[in-house]
Amino acid sequence: MKIIVMKNASELGKQAFDLLAKAVDEGAKTLGLATGSSPVELYQEIAASQLDFSQMTSVNLDEYVGLSPENPQSYHYFMNKHLFQYKPFKRSYLPDGQAKDIQAECGRYNQILAENPVDLQVLGIGQNGHIAFNEPGTPFDSVTHEVALTESTIKANARFFDSIDEVPKSAICMGIANIMAAKEIILLAKGESKAKAIKAMVEGPVTTDVPASVLQKHPNVTVVADQAAASLLK
Ligand code: GLP
Repeated sequence: MKIIVMKNASELGKQAFDLLAKAVDEGAKTLGLATGSSPVELYQEIAASQLDFSQMTSVNLDEYVGLSPENPQSYHYFMNKHLFQYKPFKRSYLPDGQAKDIQAECGRYNQILAENPVDLQVLGIGQNGHIAFNEPGTPFDSVTHEVALTESTIKANARFFDSIDEVPKSAICMGIANIMAAKEIILLAKGESKAKAIKAMVEGPVTTDVPASVLQKHPNVTVVADQAAASLLK
């Protein structure tokens, strides 16, 4: 695991952009994308750049169950707002949170991932060490599945909704095995609230209690953290 510490969020976005642009330059065809506040500065850098994704494919990590793409809290909406409206891809895939048959939707998404191997995956990290919505306890061999969100994740994400009751209770999410299949991974972390998770991910044992710790086993991971998120590292 390579770790790069930047002094603030805007520098973090620039650093992440450089890594992504290099991967694209070297021939990456499929990008794995994430939502949340962590990649926002990266997406701003991309939007302002000369990068052209019109011949590329994107696959997103996850989507809330029950939210339509028009719902401002959905991850479809987030991606359009922060990235796709500026930099359209030839094809962009996200799980369909409104699918009638969630099991079948998970199967369809695994098929999409099999057909579009991810060259570079962008990741954030939850305060409890989750990646995408893979909460503590998720098996490392998991593939796309429906996840019941933990209380802590529902609370952490409530800030984006009018009330905590509006936060969806589950999501469709790539599994840990899907994420680990990416050729290269960039994990972004900002702020003090991520410091414990970053320490556990980098310095702790590889355990399903800290889903992100599995990344220690991946051959090409770069963690880009701001000083606050890196503050507990030895
Ligand atoms: C959510 C998302 C994750 C994200 C995490 C951290 O639960 N499903 O993909 O990495 O929260 O979010 P943020 O980047 O806003 O701190």
